[in-house]
Amino acid sequence: MVNARPRRLPRNFCGRSAADGPHARGTIHSMIHAVYPGSFDPLHNGHADVVRRAARVYDTLTVAVLDNPTKREPLFTVQERLEILEEVTRDMANVRVDRFDGLLANYAGVIQANVIVKGLRAISDFEYELQMAHLNRNLNPDVETTFIMTATRWSYVSSTRVKELAQYGADVSRLVPPATLKRLETKFK
Ligand code: PNS
Repeated sequence: MVNARPRRLPRNFCGRSAADGPHARGTIHSMIHAVYPGSFDPLHNGHADVVRRAARVYDTLTVAVLDNPTKREPLFTVQERLEILEEVTRDMANVRVDRFDGLLANYAGVIQANVIVKGLRAISDFEYELQMAHLNRNLNPDVETTFIMTATRWSYVSSTRVKELAQYGADVSRLVPPATLKRLETKFK
């Protein structure tokens, strides 16, 4: 029996005919701009892994550094953190870096991002991230939060631990990209 129910088309279904050229019937247009927010003080390999993978999934990715003077004294200035990100993402054509302050949900609206990307290392991250996702969705229902599981090999790495190790002279060269390493060496020499 033929199913008479109209087929639901994807939200971005173009619906034009093949004669319309490049936007042929059946073409699905979905330009997704994602924002990956964080303190990135400093950027470590777990962050870099999420950036690279998110850049493969989304059309454009803004990596946004929180410029939050209320947070305890950061090790790196926002400018330094942006410079590290610029270096690390230089070969990623669809990635831009930016800074923001205030609410992430508002910032996402301003830059017209439709997705927030967060990295998840472990279940312990999940409870906090779940709360943030709900809050952000309440503040801006047009933005969806998505999660990328941090690669297992970086699941124990955090900016706090990297700073602590570097401060005591431990070798962190396997935990951070060279752009971060050279700045850590300068800070703690
Ligand atoms: O790297 P971090 O420090 O874990 O990143 C946290 C960040 C920047 C994603 C989070 O603190 C944030 O979104 N701050 C902006 C303020 C905001 O929107 N808070 C949520 C509602 S209370």
